[in-house]
Amino acid sequence: MQAQNPMTGSGNISQLKKYAADLAEVYKSNKRKGNELEALHKQLVKYAEDLSENHFDLKTAHQELEDAYLDTIHRLVLAAEYKDLETGVHIDRMSRYSALLAGKLGLSVKDVQNILYAAPMHDIGKIAIPDSILMKPDRLTAKEFRIMISHTITGANILAYSKAEVLKVAEKIAISHHEQWSGRGYPQGLSGEDIPLVGRIVGLADVFDALTSKRPYKDAYPVEVAVDIIKRERGRHFDPALVDIFLDSLDDIFKIKREVDSVEHTPSGSGPHS
Ligand SMILES: [Fe+2]
Ligand SMILES: [Fe+2]
Repeated sequence: MQAQNPMTGSGNISQLKKYAADLAEVYKSNKRKGNELEALHKQLVKYAEDLSENHFDLKTAHQELEDAYLDTIHRLVLAAEYKDLETGVHIDRMSRYSALLAGKLGLSVKDVQNILYAAPMHDIGKIAIPDSILMKPDRLTAKEFRIMISHTITGANILAYSKAEVLKVAEKIAISHHEQWSGRGYPQGLSGEDIPLVGRIVGLADVFDALTSKRPYKDAYPVEVAVDIIKRERGRHFDPALVDIFLDSLDDIFKIKREVDSVEHTPSGSGPHS
């Protein structure tokens, strides 16, 4: 230990000098670290900016791809139903009714979206049905009806083996949208919960819209009459739980109908057998 001169305090002075030197060193080192941190911060900001730019580009590319994909589906449906202008509004309404029911049932956002995009393809198999049957103003004969039934299988075949989730859902809808809860539907005569849920949902939305639309073989029913028919078919044609949800959602259903009908203007009186 250094001896201290009580007269000059030289021990304290040299100690102080050492503190000052240490402090200067600490200050320098902190400044160096500060500079390094600042450089690092700038670099991080730059990375974040690049990342966000790339993310934006990717998002735009993804959105463009999705738009093109949905546009293609829409055009495919239009091609299949080109001869029938009414169907354009029919598919808009019934797909939105379907998505509404799916949402009220508590399905995930993704599932609801898949149903919204897949439902328009429910009758894609009609591309193979002759116009003479599709547009016939009278009741179909038994033979014609058998041909008509095949649109479900043809549709499922057109949509089969896709890796895309929305097309897998569309395949399921195409094959099952004419099945009935009681087992009296077609093409497989499935009953109850053996019918895929998407088929039960779209089947109800499709029939309600068909009932409230004018077709070559029938007039449009007033919505109240159509609602009564759906009610009567609870547990027969339709899944009872789904009918209950439908009846609870009538305000939203009518709102969709008003919205679609006010935007689109197509001649009435057309529309094929369903
Ligand atoms: Fe159909
Ligand atoms: Fe339909």
